[in-house]
Amino acid sequence: MTHFLPFPRPAVVINGRSHPDEPYGDARSEILNLAAGREAMRMVSSWPDYRPTPLIDLPGLAAELGVKRILYKDESQRFGLKSFKALGGAYAVARMLRRIVSEKLGREVAAAEIADRRFNEIVGSVTVTCATDGNHGRSVAWGARNFGCRCVIFIHSLVSEARADAIARLGARVERTAGNYDDAVRVSFEAAERHGWHLVSDTSFLGYTDIPRDVMQGYSVILEEEAQRWKEGSPTHVFVQAGVGGLAAAVCAYFWERFSSARPRIVTVEPEAAACLFESAKAGTLQIVKGALGTIMAGLACGEPSLLAWRILETGADVFATIPDAAAVEAMRILSRGYGGDPPVVCGESGGAGLAGLIACAGNAEFRRRIGLDTRSEVLTIGTEGDTDPELYERIVGRSAGEVLPDGFRGNATAKY
Ligand SMILES: Cc1ncc(COP(=O)(O)O)c(C=O)c1O
Repeated sequence: MTHFLPFPRPAVVINGRSHPDEPYGDARSEILNLAAGREAMRMVSSWPDYRPTPLIDLPGLAAELGVKRILYKDESQRFGLKSFKALGGAYAVARMLRRIVSEKLGREVAAAEIADRRFNEIVGSVTVTCATDGNHGRSVAWGARNFGCRCVIFIHSLVSEARADAIARLGARVERTAGNYDDAVRVSFEAAERHGWHLVSDTSFLGYTDIPRDVMQGYSVILEEEAQRWKEGSPTHVFVQAGVGGLAAAVCAYFWERFSSARPRIVTVEPEAAACLFESAKAGTLQIVKGALGTIMAGLACGEPSLLAWRILETGADVFATIPDAAAVEAMRILSRGYGGDPPVVCGESGGAGLAGLIACAGNAEFRRRIGLDTRSEVLTIGTEGDTDPELYERIVGRSAGEVLPDGFRGNATAKY
């Protein structure tokens, strides 16, 4: 096995509190469950332009890393928004509007009626808001535009202009706040209280859990789309990047409920500079990381874990890992070229962090032994974003997304198994 030189040893916490025989259980089921995931799948797949994203096999990289298979679920073209986040925020907006209209009319309205914009007067008077480091705000703004409500998005000081413009182009008002992501979350919460807006946050805290639960449940569509494939058996390992932990929790919950003790080992991967889950695992209780959280992995620059996500991950994740920015950058470059004959993939800074974590961990014999990573392992990674900041992507990779993938959209038809 060759070593990818820019990959320093990752920092890892092996979670002593995860036990294969622990059942998924009712308490976690109240947060996320398979039935609600299927409901999310039904709604999201009814939206115009819905297409499942491809699950790409990377045999060249798998051979290099000494595992049987690496599967890469490529979210780079999800609904044209370039990230998996299109599933969460917009789904939560749709569910919230359905609740508001149902209450106003005194009858249960159908999801399709919201999608068809049958209640323009009621919906048009609703304003949704959230904080974002780019992708979640884009999803909420897209949902607001599609369903016909108003939208105000708060971005923090480090969000690039390109990401802010992409949100504004969807018709949302974009407001920049001082401080980091967690400060922007507080500003959005206060603004919602002050103006009677509806907060659609991707992170949960005491007293605010219903909507973030919908956001997380929306993410489970990623795995529902592959439900048939998992009938052949679950992956043995999942390396999944984390900001507040919502995606990682959705992945963990899905496999835990579906496969019980035969579920895959879950490894969360965070930037060194914003490792709130890692620190929480180390301390054995939820921790907040303060400061600028400066990392190139903008989507993962979160200092406060989502409360609901932590409730699942604290005993559900097997390993909490961190990587430096250099590892994320190298993963983007490897994916853009396609390793050892693998198909090229467009992957943004946060999008390949899980894969970068796998590459970093696979070179460590002790780690491999502790989590049973070997030549029989089938590893799932999720490419959570494409070139969400096209200029930055080109600067890092040396080519634009169009040059990496000249044939454009990679539908399921071209996914290799
Ligand atoms: C591209 C990308 N990947 C992963 C994540 C992590 O998701 P979560 O914050 O739910 O952990 C984010 C969050 O914004 C993101 O934008």
